[in-house]
Amino acid sequence: MSQWGDGTRSVHAGLPPAEPGQPFLPGPVFAAPYHLDPWQGPAATPNGYGRPDNPTRRLLETAIGELEGGDCRVFASGQAAITALLLAVLRPGDTVLLPADGYYPVRAFATETLEGFGVRVTFVPTAGPYPSFDGVRLVLLETPSNPGLDVADVPALAAAAHAAGALVAVDNTTATPLGQRPLDLGADAVVASGTKALTGHSDLLLGYVATRSAGLLDPVTSWRTMTGGVPGAFDCWLAHRSLATVDLRLARQTANAEAVARLLAGRPDVTGVRWPGLPDDPAYPVAAVQMRRLPGVLGFDLGDPDRVARFLDASRLVAAATSFGGLHTSADRRAQWGDDTAPGFVRLSCGIEDPADLVADLTAALDASAA
Ligand SMILES: Cc1ncc(COP(=O)(O)O)c(C=O)c1O
Repeated sequence: MSQWGDGTRSVHAGLPPAEPGQPFLPGPVFAAPYHLDPWQGPAATPNGYGRPDNPTRRLLETAIGELEGGDCRVFASGQAAITALLLAVLRPGDTVLLPADGYYPVRAFATETLEGFGVRVTFVPTAGPYPSFDGVRLVLLETPSNPGLDVADVPALAAAAHAAGALVAVDNTTATPLGQRPLDLGADAVVASGTKALTGHSDLLLGYVATRSAGLLDPVTSWRTMTGGVPGAFDCWLAHRSLATVDLRLARQTANAEAVARLLAGRPDVTGVRWPGLPDDPAYPVAAVQMRRLPGVLGFDLGDPDRVARFLDASRLVAAATSFGGLHTSADRRAQWGDDTAPGFVRLSCGIEDPADLVADLTAALDASAA
């Protein structure tokens, strides 16, 4: 599989061997208990009970694992996956290093829950500078960071962390496994929300942990079984079905992001444009080396909340919505959710509309909102 291109790998990921009379992607298996062998019990089947065992979920895990280059466990959401890794690894007295500018509920979880368990939490901006990793148990990087789109140098930081005996996990939500492969870059684990561009249809929540280390996979699997944060069979099936088009969707989203970034960068009434694909963006030098493709997400500042509202009102194609990575272009004023961003900062997620339509709509909406 590794010799194939992204489109081929996406469309074939996790599919069972061809069997006459069977579908390409088997339909969802809805089961809580399964029939057991009366004499041998659960030892005789991979499927005993739905919380640990589901064949639809396993196929999706095979698919994501193939794309990330590791073993995968899926969860009911990205938050379920990230907190599973943190809680499966960290013990009282440990120190964890988290992004100061990453997804805010991870930071809130760290201060509200992890610190209460006796874990020391240190926040570091994604762009650095990074402190010494001496005495650190786990470093979580979010690259590109959400919403600021800064980029961390994964190979360099993984080497420094490993030299100090720390583990490294990378939140790969924004990049997706086609955008970068953190396990190849030296990370011990990937965590991600599959809710975003990976599945991309804005119709389900999903998360996952991927790793090549049995020493991480086993406690994460056990954590999931004990705490029960599994996704349902139908969501797993929908996610797997959506995964087949991730290469095509990302290609259009990135092309749209490039066109929009150029439009925004050329407008005097828009400031602070961030997209790691713009050559003068601070994240460009590292992104150009470690990323395989660029995200469809951008950031920019429209000055104040009223202008953002006028812009969203005037646009015919940009939906006012949170989340990102979906088929439809959407925009979100992040300060309204508690992110530490300027009041007029907007995260724009490019969908798969035609680039010319999107640029024309954005131009009109920016003009109208500037008035
Ligand atoms: C970078 C990042 N990580 C994790 C999450 C959490 O994912 P979920 O909403 O699927 O729980 C998000 C959600 O926006 C995110 O942007």
